[in-house]
Amino acid sequence: MKFAFFDTKPYDIPSFEKYGKENDITFKFYETHLNEDTVGLARGCDGICVFVNDTVNAEIIDELCSLGVKMIALRCAGYNNVDLEYAKNKLRIARVPAYSPYAVAEHTMALLLTSVRRVHKAYIRTRDFNFSLNGMTGFDLHGKTVGVVGTGKIGRVFIDICRGFGMNVIAYDKFSDENSGIEYVGLNELFSRSDIISFHCPLTEETYHMINSETIEQLKTGVVLLNTSRGAIIDAEALLEGIKSRKIGAACLDVYEEEADFFFNDFSGHIIDDDVLARLISMPNVIVTSHQAFLTDEALDNIAETTVQNITAFRDGTTTGNEL
Ligand code: NAI
Repeated sequence: MKFAFFDTKPYDIPSFEKYGKENDITFKFYETHLNEDTVGLARGCDGICVFVNDTVNAEIIDELCSLGVKMIALRCAGYNNVDLEYAKNKLRIARVPAYSPYAVAEHTMALLLTSVRRVHKAYIRTRDFNFSLNGMTGFDLHGKTVGVVGTGKIGRVFIDICRGFGMNVIAYDKFSDENSGIEYVGLNELFSRSDIISFHCPLTEETYHMINSETIEQLKTGVVLLNTSRGAIIDAEALLEGIKSRKIGAACLDVYEEEADFFFNDFSGHIIDDDVLARLISMPNVIVTSHQAFLTDEALDNIAETTVQNITAFRDGTTTGNEL
């Protein structure tokens, strides 16, 4: 089988080549995103392999079908970029539901610790032989209340990590698991009680702009917001206002609403066209990483292995349970 692989990065290639070779699947690697202009690259392929910022809308689905493409293999967990309803009965779609919840949960804690203990500032200071501690005072995580929105695979690993720090964990999930030993509360209560809030729910119509100018009013002054889920869960402009008004104490973002235009690419030396992103990044209490929470050796290997299993199951007329 032949698959067009969009949005290729150098770190994708070794693991996909390895598992592809073992299973007679050839990947044609393209650096470009999948969009209306590039969909033609899938000509002659049985399927395409896409990532979080590739667009799979109705127009592209129609074009893929006319090219004879039969499968879309998502090499990610989230699928908010795919028009699933439109694709129904036209194409087989499978995703990688879990590749390393530890990677994302550990990155979330790395961001929190970096922010709270000013590690990002200290790193720059000491490289310049500036050993002053002024402005570096943090706070203990021990005893603080963390509100976790979404208690699926990643949320639960993050909860375990937080408990290891002696934090008090409360959570909200649309489908709460009452036997999990997790203290579930309503979303409003979570917003008003939490010193730190971390998002681990999917982006859906319900979670879109869950943090907006109104909900920000409900938050504790000085709250730390962590988003390693999907950018549009937080209204970025409202977040910026919340930072400027000092209501929000800090924000750690691995995802951003308009990230597709920037993340994963090198724009150093360019003038960034997104004023909200530029202003957020300029804030001393905002840390941005460019959707790298998943990026560990273990996760990359699992992503390639599961994606190839999804493709071989399609080829062999079976299923893996990862179909959407
Ligand atoms: P999961 O499917 O195991 O858990 C998601 C949880 O969110 C479930 O418990 C579900 O019931 C809950 N949920 C659904 N709708 C909700 C709502 N309206 N309000 C509150 N909770 C709701 O997913 P997993 O693997 O834990 O991933 C979570 C999210 O993390 C993904 O949807 C994806 O967007 C993001 N992600 C980010 C990565 C990164 O590199 N930054 C990598 C992998 C995933």
